[in-house]
Amino acid sequence: MLIKEIYNKYLFCKNTDRIGPDIPFTHWKLHFKSSMTKLCKSKFKHFSGTADFRAGAYAVHCSNISLGENVVIRPSTMFFADEFAEIIIEDNVMMGASVHFYVNNHKFDRTDIPLIEQGYYPSKSILVKEGAWIGANAIILPGITIGRNAVIGAGSIVTKSIPAYSVAVGNPAKVIKRLTE
Ligand SMILES: CC(C)(COP(=O)(O)OP(=O)(O)OC[C@H]1O[C@@H](n2cnc3c(N)ncnc32)[C@H](O)[C@@H]1OP(=O)(O)O)[C@@H](O)C(=O)NCCC(=O)NCCS
Repeated sequence: MLIKEIYNKYLFCKNTDRIGPDIPFTHWKLHFKSSMTKLCKSKFKHFSGTADFRAGAYAVHCSNISLGENVVIRPSTMFFADEFAEIIIEDNVMMGASVHFYVNNHKFDRTDIPLIEQGYYPSKSILVKEGAWIGANAIILPGITIGRNAVIGAGSIVTKSIPAYSVAVGNPAKVIKRLTE
């Protein structure tokens, strides 16, 4: 019985469009650079040769997630893409641990049936442009674009797109500074 469960789990891990601590037969590969790169290149839509996806990070629907050059994804980071919307992290984006990205919202406007039966609103892609820096524990909601070289403060909840060369902090994240030459 247990042997069969282990075998089924192995098949699931091998074929699923996810990477995460609950996908043990592939997750161990993140501890070693060569196996990490091979796994990530096979799962993600795009995974640059210099990107690093560290053990403890999590990605759902990897086939709609792109990670650019020099991007390091740290433990407890969560990427929730889906079949309709992408998460694109461009080159040289920096981020702390535990940043969360979500491309969809559950529907909640009907009162006659439980939320769980209402499905989803249309998903919206997330784009983080070249050179941005996202502080630890930030949450990036559906449809957000974070502009080139923008800075997002630790723990911020980003509900609206953030322009290039600006610093945004808080919940909801507000621009507190614009960087000029
Ligand atoms: C945003 C950040 C970069 C500082 O930027 P800054 O332009 O130097 O901002 P300041 O320190 O001058 O603060 C400006 C105001 O924003 C507030 N603020 C700063 N960071 C904040 C944050 N993360 N959330 C909410 N408010 C914040 C300050 O309290 C200050 O408010 P006040 O004007 O009412 O006093 C920094 O606070 C931060 O959050 N860094 C992320 C650290 C991190 O996650 N590191 C992980 C390594 S990748």
